[in-house]
Amino acid sequence: MKLMEPLRINSTTIHCRVLVPAMVTRLSGEDGYVNQAIRDRYVRYAMGEVGLLVVEAMAIHGNKSGPLLRISEDRFIPGLRDMVREVHEASDTKIVPQIIHFLKISRRGWRQKVEDLSREEIKLIVEQFGNAAYRARQAEFDGVELHMAHAYTMSSFLSMRNKRKDEYGGKTLEDRMRAMGEVITRVRQAVGDDFAVGVRFDAEEGIKKGYTLNDSREFALRMAQLGADYISLSAGGKFEDAIIRPGHIVYPYTGYSGDKCMPGDYYPDGTNLYLAEGIKRYLVERGYQTPLVCAGKISHAEHAEEILQKGWADIIGMARANLADADWAKKVREGREKEIIRCIYCNVCKNLDETHNEVICYLWPKGTLHAPLWKPGGNPVWPTDGKLTAAVTPSEIKLSWEEASHADGVCGYDLFRREGDGQYEWFTATTRTNYRDQLAIAGRAYKYYVQAYTEAGMRSTPTEVVEATIPFPDYATASA
Ligand SMILES: Cc1cc2nc3c(=O)[nH]c(=O)nc-3n(C[C@H](O)[C@H](O)[C@H](O)COP(=O)(O)O)c2cc1C
Repeated sequence: MKLMEPLRINSTTIHCRVLVPAMVTRLSGEDGYVNQAIRDRYVRYAMGEVGLLVVEAMAIHGNKSGPLLRISEDRFIPGLRDMVREVHEASDTKIVPQIIHFLKISRRGWRQKVEDLSREEIKLIVEQFGNAAYRARQAEFDGVELHMAHAYTMSSFLSMRNKRKDEYGGKTLEDRMRAMGEVITRVRQAVGDDFAVGVRFDAEEGIKKGYTLNDSREFALRMAQLGADYISLSAGGKFEDAIIRPGHIVYPYTGYSGDKCMPGDYYPDGTNLYLAEGIKRYLVERGYQTPLVCAGKISHAEHAEEILQKGWADIIGMARANLADADWAKKVREGREKEIIRCIYCNVCKNLDETHNEVICYLWPKGTLHAPLWKPGGNPVWPTDGKLTAAVTPSEIKLSWEEASHADGVCGYDLFRREGDGQYEWFTATTRTNYRDQLAIAGRAYKYYVQAYTEAGMRSTPTEVVEATIPFPDYATASA
């Protein structure tokens, strides 16, 4: 399958098209150094054999923040280099850091905007990107990714909300791209021609009076023209529509644009794919083959393969899916897709990021800081046959089943659902022994079965199938 085919990115080659996009872990201290927990997190992804691992956003400057990695001074290089070495020793996974500049923000609600920056300060930011990218090369990363997405400085220059009155913003598209152009050019000068430089940016802002595909395809084209080695698409994640909580630093993923960035379980799979499709077509029509990364609720290999086959993207970004199961890529490559522990997009990880707590996955065994190490082991077993039952109310279907057992413990339960004469589909996973199907529609016949799984993803036998239908409401009687 194309998903498992290699792809050359400048002087490096990724062995497959699975990319873990940057995900802040909140595992670092405020000192910004790589520590053991950070190393363990990234080595674990490498053991799962992803193609390209993008290390969480790290600051190119000294502005205050919560726990965040830094690449703002040479003293951070040795720690970063050790992490890179360990990742390279673990597998063929390639690794790049995402480098970020962000503006100042206070608990009292004030935040610095690009409009407040002097020309000298913009020059300094351009310089800081160049220096940080050079440090990435010194730390032996396989490339560097420039963070131009979400609520941060570079994205704010691109934004339609950029109200600068000089050549760095205001009304024209060209001016909004100027800082981006200077940064990419400076970074290229700093790292040389043979070092992979990727750019991540929002394909749509997802805010009122924010830019859409009309502008973002021009941004992508300019990035390609400036020699970006890959372009990674995100969406939203803006301050403008974030929920303000007095006394708290505003978190730019709490409004609708936050949903666009990290779509929850109630969004369709591949939420933002129309953006990748539009940008890819625009680039190809203009003769640019720059590899494009898409992301946003993609977690099934079949879906990922379809995206590649249709030519909407060249690399599949899967953040939370790989957080849930760090062996996602390895399991697909080895034909063990049935053993994947599937992300349920509950966004517990996002909430932990917001509150500056260590980012873990709700589906991991309780008390663990990283995805469990895969180990061979048998399948969980039911005490009897799983004893799956379904109770119907006028509003929902309540399912419950037995607790399964396994020597290493049972990690969770997959619920499969079939509607009418359709196919059984994976519906969700839970760590409990009951589930309320609140998406069931009255008058439709549903069938369910459950499988228990271990932390290695070994499945029990399916329970017996249960059937349930919510009676169609008698609206006339109810309103009489
Ligand atoms: C906990 C968490 C932290 C994130 N941190 C970053 C980050 O540092 N940089 C970034 O560009 N995106 C970040 N993202 C967004 C992801 O890279 C990704 O675009 C998003 O989760 C949608 O992809 P998914 O549906 O595969 O998870 C973060 C997402 C989560 C859940």
